[in-house]
Formats: sequence, structure tokens, C-alpha cells
Amino acid sequence: MPPTNRPLPASEFRRRRRQLMRMMGADSIAIIPTAREQLRNNDVHFPFRPDSDFHYLTGFPEADAVAVLIPGRKQGQYILFCRERDPQAEQWEGRRAGQEGAREQYAADDAFPIGDLDEILPRMLEQCERVFYAMGCDAQLDRRMSTWIRQVRRKARAGISAPLEFIALDHYLHELRLYKSRSEIALMRRCARISANAHRHLMRVCQPGMHEYQLEAEFIHQCSQAGAREQAYPAIVGGGANACVLHYIENDQTLNDGDLVLIDAGCELHCYASDITRTFPVNGRFSPEQRALYELVLEAQLAAIDEVKPGNHWNAPHERAVKVLTRGLVKLGLLEGRVPRLLRDEAYKPFYMHRTGHWLGMDVHDVGNYKVDGEWRELEPGMVLTIEPGLYIAPRQKGVAKKWRGIGIRIEDDVLVTRDGHDVLSGDAPKTVEAIEATMNEGKT
Ligand code: GLY
Ligand code: MN
Ligand code: MN
Repeated sequence: MPPTNRPLPASEFRRRRRQLMRMMGADSIAIIPTAREQLRNNDVHFPFRPDSDFHYLTGFPEADAVAVLIPGRKQGQYILFCRERDPQAEQWEGRRAGQEGAREQYAADDAFPIGDLDEILPRMLEQCERVFYAMGCDAQLDRRMSTWIRQVRRKARAGISAPLEFIALDHYLHELRLYKSRSEIALMRRCARISANAHRHLMRVCQPGMHEYQLEAEFIHQCSQAGAREQAYPAIVGGGANACVLHYIENDQTLNDGDLVLIDAGCELHCYASDITRTFPVNGRFSPEQRALYELVLEAQLAAIDEVKPGNHWNAPHERAVKVLTRGLVKLGLLEGRVPRLLRDEAYKPFYMHRTGHWLGMDVHDVGNYKVDGEWRELEPGMVLTIEPGLYIAPRQKGVAKKWRGIGIRIEDDVLVTRDGHDVLSGDAPKTVEAIEATMNEGKT
């Protein structure tokens, strides 16, 4: 594994558990299950990916596991329930850490077989006043939680008191996840670099007549070769008017000479996402209309990125982007009227119907509140977000000159808030018209 691709160190997971336990206080318990394996068909499963909250606290990669944190517990504060070693099962399905591995490799203070959860967890609940648990995420575990709590309540006459408070664990955990540490930032930078290089590669290999899925295949190949073997989300590769379908993932059409292609794709590295969009001409040269719209989206994107700095609120980049886009659409004749009024009426919405970004982290649409006490949240160092304005002129858009129709453009970067502004993590993917055309025509005759 290249040194830059290393997973986070064990100390990072320990620090997170400590931080959460400090927030929880004494007499409390947190219960965090990992994701469930999902059947794809018959006896074949989808590739397993741990739950992000669970992974954030444990780094434990196996299915069928539940982490329990009990601050101050004498026999150990961090307890991991996981599968037992089983040589026969492991020969077919792959290695397991077992309880010994949970302790030795994953730093659990105590570990039990996952099959013992129903027996052990009610006894742990007996000793706690507050339960931190993300209700509504795992219906099966929710039901078991209810059963365990009922079991504890039934012991009231024996002098055992059931927990008094149930607290949404996700709220606490997601606040922690919103602020990225130095090692998380290094990992996200590496992840964004791998994706950015893959985007650049697509610019080099794209030719009229290729299929959209061939660019998708090239993207995945490049990321996998660089060590990022998962994608953070299914790639969108939309040629021509397909780019106007925001979540287009069919990716099965031919890329035509004279069209643009929009590629929204990002790999995942050790459970951290990147999310990058580039749009470029299939034949390597922008037409005048494509260029005019592209330069407008780029102007909006650069202006929005400029708004990413501590103290600005979450919505500042979006507000800046729609201002630039509206002014530009008027200049190009796609909107008519006075800019302030058009902004008030959201006249840009037929051409720009999504927001300018989202938090980015372990999930592509990462956790963390966007508002605090009803107000847009202030940006702070360590937060990572995407900036992704676009313009989509649908093929049958009314009141628009024919020359604009069927053009869809989005430009998306991953941006870290720093102490004095921002740092674009995905900057290695070319995005000016000149840089794109130069990259596309490198080595071509
Ligand atoms: N790739 C999903 C998004 O850009 O939000
Ligand atoms: Mn995005
Ligand atoms: Mn995206």
C-alpha cells in the first residue's frame, strides 16, 4: 500500500471514542451497530460497507458487529460484539478477527460473541441512566432494544432501575464527524487526488463514438489502480442532453461528436468520499454556446468557492452562485428582466434547480446540521463541503433559443475550510476551458 493510502491510525479511533464518552458523561451507555449485509440475489450479497458512524468509532471492517461504550466501566469502556472465529466458515467466507482480534487489533477493552448480545446487553443497560442510541436506523435492533428495556423494567421490584433518558446518539456523533482532523484531511486529500487524476485521464482518452460506460470503466480502473477500490456513489456519465438528468446513471449511450459529457464521479478511500464533477467536449473543443455557458458556470463556481471561509454562513456560496448565474443568464439572453427581481423570483430555477453543495466526509452527502437555532451555520476550519453549481438547458425547454438546448454543465470540487479561507482538495482536475482543451489534445494528432 503506498504510504499516502494508509488507513487512519488506531489512535485516531481511540481519540474519537474518548471524545464521545466525554460528551456522554458518567452512568451512560452508547450502542452502535454496523450496517447489515444486503442480499443482491439468491445467496449473493452486495459488497459490504460498514456503517459510517460505527466505522468512525471502531475502524472494525466486519459485518455482524455492535460496539458499546460505557464511560467509566471498570472492566473496560469499549466493548465490541462480533462474530466468533470459525475455521470452516472462514475457509469459505474469509477471515474473521474474533474476540481476540477485536481486543488485539482493534483495541477493544472487552469483546463478546455477537450471539451473546441478548444475554449481555440488558445487564449493561441495568447500570446506566442514559442510553445513547440512533433510533430508526436499524428496525431489527430497535425492536431488540425495546425488548431489552422491557426486560430491565420488569426487574423494578428487585430494586433495579431502568434507564431514564434516551438520547439521539447520531446528533452527538454527527457534530464530531463534521470537523475533520489532520489525518482525516490528509486522507480526504489523497482520495480527492485519486479522483481528480482519474477525471484528468478521462479527458485524455475520451473520443467521439465511445460509450458513456467506457468512461465510467476507465474512471473505476484508474481509482482501483491507485488503491481506491470503492466508489463513493454510482458514477454519472451523461453525454449531450443526458447531462440535464441530474441523477443519470444508465451510462449506456454513445458519446457524440459536438456534444459535451458531464462526469460526476468520486472514489472512496478507507470509507472517506470524494465527489467531483467535470464537464468537457467529447471532441476536445468547446463550441461557442458550450463555451459561453461553461464559462458562466465556472465563474459562478469560483465566486462560490471564494465565499468558503470561516465566519461566512453555509448559504453564502449558494447565494453568490445564483447571483452570478442570474446575471450571466440575462447577458446571454436566457433570462429577461432586472437581476434583483429575477433573484427574488428564483427565475434561475428552470436552469439551476439544485443547491450549490453539501458536507462531504465518510458519506458523500455527509452528516452535520446545516442550520443551528434556525440560522444557517457558520463555516469553521476543518469542515469539508462541495461547491457544485451547474446549468441545465433541457432539450424541450420553452422560451429558449434552440442553440442552447440540450446543454448540461456542472463543475464540482471538494473544498476544505481553513483558518484563513479554503483549500480546494480536488484542484488537480483541470477545469478552465484552456486547461481542459490542452489536456484533451495532449498526445492527440
Ligand atoms: N454526486 C452526488 C452529488 O454531487 O451530490
Ligand atoms: Mn456533490
Ligand atoms: Mn457529485
